[in-house]
Amino acid sequence: MTIGIGLLGLGTVGAGVAAILASPEGRHPLVAELELKRVAVRDLSRTRPLQLAAELLTTSPEAVIDDPAVEIVVEVMGGLEPARSLILRAIAAGKPVVTANKAVIARYGEEIAAAAAARGVYVLIEAAVGGGIPIIEPLKQSLGGNRIQRVSGIINGTTNYILSRMADEGAAYADVLADAQRLGYAEADPAADVQGGDAADKIAILAGLAYGGPVPRAGIATEGIDRLDARDVAYAAQLGFVVKLVATAERLGSGAPAPGEPIPLDVRVHPTLLPKQHPLAGVHGVNNAILVEGDPVGQVMFYGPGAGAGPTASAVVADILNIAGIRQVGGSEAGLDPLLAASSWRQCELVDGSTSRHRNYVRLHTRDEAGVIGRIGSCFGAAGVSIQSIVQFEAREAEGETEADVEGGATDRAATRAGAKAEIVVITHEVQESHFRQALAAIENLSDVTKVAACLRTL
Ligand code: HSE
Repeated sequence: MTIGIGLLGLGTVGAGVAAILASPEGRHPLVAELELKRVAVRDLSRTRPLQLAAELLTTSPEAVIDDPAVEIVVEVMGGLEPARSLILRAIAAGKPVVTANKAVIARYGEEIAAAAAARGVYVLIEAAVGGGIPIIEPLKQSLGGNRIQRVSGIINGTTNYILSRMADEGAAYADVLADAQRLGYAEADPAADVQGGDAADKIAILAGLAYGGPVPRAGIATEGIDRLDARDVAYAAQLGFVVKLVATAERLGSGAPAPGEPIPLDVRVHPTLLPKQHPLAGVHGVNNAILVEGDPVGQVMFYGPGAGAGPTASAVVADILNIAGIRQVGGSEAGLDPLLAASSWRQCELVDGSTSRHRNYVRLHTRDEAGVIGRIGSCFGAAGVSIQSIVQFEAREAEGETEADVEGGATDRAATRAGAKAEIVVITHEVQESHFRQALAAIENLSDVTKVAACLRTL
């Protein structure tokens, strides 16, 4: 019994899926049962590495969905529209959907899940996060017995590639980005990657699954790597840290959540200092990793290639096989498997994170005079913030104006004229965010401090 597959999109991922279906030997026997029936492409005349019969191709995605021979619709075209409408059309036609579209699922996942539940079809999304890393199914199924405390990950390969090279070569962000674009590791328009939006889409999806309720994508505090200064990467390394773009979803509070109450979550994406021995610190280049911390399992880490034709197609085909397997044993007439379907059983509430606790890295431009470090220390002490280390990296004489001085503008230049300057880096112990902000406000008001040049969280 073959199962008809319709592909919406024949780009990198679509071609990867078609390649697996075209060569089932040595894979699970169910792969041989999958038959590509129709493929929607943008341009029929384009030459493609994988030869597909001309009659399979069409420029109409609707024709793929509506084709009676297509039993499972695979959406790998990307973008918000028409992808969202096409997914809904397939659901309305009673056809299960497999999609790699994180942008659509992060924004319209609730609408799509409701439509799928009402129609009794699966919408599976393993390829939407972490490329070839199986993380969606483990969160839905294998880790279901846990209370999840935190999900944190390096879930954008482009930024991890850039940060890895900045750390290895001491290179500036803009230079590495330009090189990454030239080498094809970064998109011509890198905004979604470098500004953190892609990672925010993915953590919204992971948090929704880990905590059992939709997480509003628009409420996720997001900061990218596009303003990261190479000197912070270098100083962090000297202090025993690596800088990574980490996406985190953390439950505030402990123990069992109160029944019926929304679960408070702090969900964010930003450059983060990781101690060199942290499990995520060793993730280099375009690889991704997701660390799940649950009770009682402890820490479980998933690691692997986060993008690319083969890895993403591996995840897409896994979802197709899940649906094909259910079909083989009689279909979903008895209802959807609640562990495989996108079920949501409670409300999540995003909180501002001011009560969350973490360590901090701060780089300050100051005057290089007696008592400056003492006054900075007093501001931290008065706010109840304990300092782990405080280091004066370099003292520069007035004539030695640096790039940072120029960026600093009038205030910095005034200090430069006034005399010697210092660059001071402080790492705090783990403190409540609101206390740290209070200390920082006081430090900004010190006449010795000309600029808070950088402020990064550590995990
Ligand atoms: N642009 C993404 C990344 C891959 O750089 O990780 C697709 O999710």
